[in-house]
Amino acid sequence: MSQRPIGIFDSGVGGLTVFKEIARLLDEELIYLGDTARVPYGNKGAATVVRYALEAANFLLSRQVKMLVVACNTASAVALPFLEERFRVPVLGVIEPGARKAAAVTGNGRVGVIGTAATIGSGAYTRAIRACRPDIEIFTQACPLFVPLVEEGWVEHPVARLVAEEYLRPLAERGIDTLVLGCTHYPMLKKVLRGVLGEGVRLVDSGAETALTVTSILREQGLVRPLPALRPRFFVTDSPAHFERVGGAFLGKRLAHVQRVELGMAAPAVATPEEGNEK
Ligand code: DGL
Repeated sequence: MSQRPIGIFDSGVGGLTVFKEIARLLDEELIYLGDTARVPYGNKGAATVVRYALEAANFLLSRQVKMLVVACNTASAVALPFLEERFRVPVLGVIEPGARKAAAVTGNGRVGVIGTAATIGSGAYTRAIRACRPDIEIFTQACPLFVPLVEEGWVEHPVARLVAEEYLRPLAERGIDTLVLGCTHYPMLKKVLRGVLGEGVRLVDSGAETALTVTSILREQGLVRPLPALRPRFFVTDSPAHFERVGGAFLGKRLAHVQRVELGMAAPAVATPEEGNEK
């Protein structure tokens, strides 16, 4: 079991920020799936995102993964309970690790959370932070324009700064000392966000926290890979070209050999009856 890969999925290219953190910390074989044909998830309804997430998870489980990491904040926010309920392997989303970190580091108990419309609308971060510390005041803001800005490569562009000022002003006015970057793309905007909020506000990167949690889960469950890892594999549901180009910028290195796949509930989810992935 421990020699099996870890499956990571996202709505598209953004989850590479989470992939990168996991790859940096662990010598594990990683399989990444970006549902690029159906991105963005962030402005879709919960039922649609749950269906997409189940299909993505099924694909990864058909590749015999030992653990599933839901790198997408939107999918974590709305679909995690459905995945946990359905599959036997450990399923980890990005919300809980980010929420735990924010609750631990805030000094004044005033925390901001930014994410897609679906993530913010779900209230998942608010619930997760309150579960850690009920006294924390939470201020949320959906920032739908950030994803296209990042995908356009405008991460330090004056337009990104203007948009960030507009979105973050209400949070800054509330005196937050911690901001949760509740979307895969937002770590790419750290420089602009710091510029707008100043050094006094701590930025919590959910992806980095998730990578740390992956490490602890593997250790606790005796799933740490005993051998050096093989090359990571990347799959997408649309043409690989865009993923390779934008993903290269996310990872800071060239991405090649990305394979296109079709997803569907018809994809087999189970290995053998006795060690099936589904509960
Ligand atoms: N990966 C998504 C998230 O973290 C952002 C892109 C999308 O809307 O699908 O919420």
